[in-house]
Amino acid sequence: DMADLQGLKQGTLRLGVVTTAKYFIPHLLGDFCERYPQIEIDFKVGNRQQVIDRLSEGRDDLYVFSHPPLDAPLTLHPFLDNPLVAIASAEHPWAKRQHIPLEEFATAPFLIREPGSGTRYAMERFLRQRGIKLNVRMTVESNEAIRHSVMSGLGVSILSRHTLAFGGDAGLAILAVEGLPIFSQWTMAHHKGKPLSPVARTFLDWVEQRPPSVEISKAAPGAS
Ligand code: PGA
Repeated sequence: DMADLQGLKQGTLRLGVVTTAKYFIPHLLGDFCERYPQIEIDFKVGNRQQVIDRLSEGRDDLYVFSHPPLDAPLTLHPFLDNPLVAIASAEHPWAKRQHIPLEEFATAPFLIREPGSGTRYAMERFLRQRGIKLNVRMTVESNEAIRHSVMSGLGVSILSRHTLAFGGDAGLAILAVEGLPIFSQWTMAHHKGKPLSPVARTFLDWVEQRPPSVEISKAAPGAS
């Protein structure tokens, strides 16, 4: 429309995103806000359960999940892979191994996200399907605190590779664990029944027209 052509599209874009997406979505917003300087962004971050709660209260225009709720009538737009990788301290003896059986990995002290986390949900489903039990040392409600705890040698973990992007892999190694990475995909979601606001539609089209690329972490096994 005319307003769009003149770069005058305005209003507030309300985004509710899961914590793994907070490392990535802001990098899309830079260009978007340059193109549409009149659009204000309200950016809310929570774990999967918190974002599901926001969705059921209809608080935001668009939601970003890796594991959208199965029982809500949603329109889904998957847009980027979100691989979950196994990590250890860069000094860990496993850092240089080319193959770590899943059973062996599961014996290490493990740092796990809180109940309600989508990362935890995906991991638990993966392990349950393979009959593997973890040796949980610590439950941690933050990807950053997990990274730092793993860095300090407290244990191993499984996190979205995107939590390691832009220097977040310092002091860490991605382990070559059998069956990993666990596949997941970020998906934009909105209520089927509720029409999208013009700004939300503009953002959705923006993301779909520019399939973003995944930064490959330097911490991958065998990389130097
Ligand atoms: P979360 O992120 O672990 O913070 O809930 C969700 C996801 O990537 O599914």
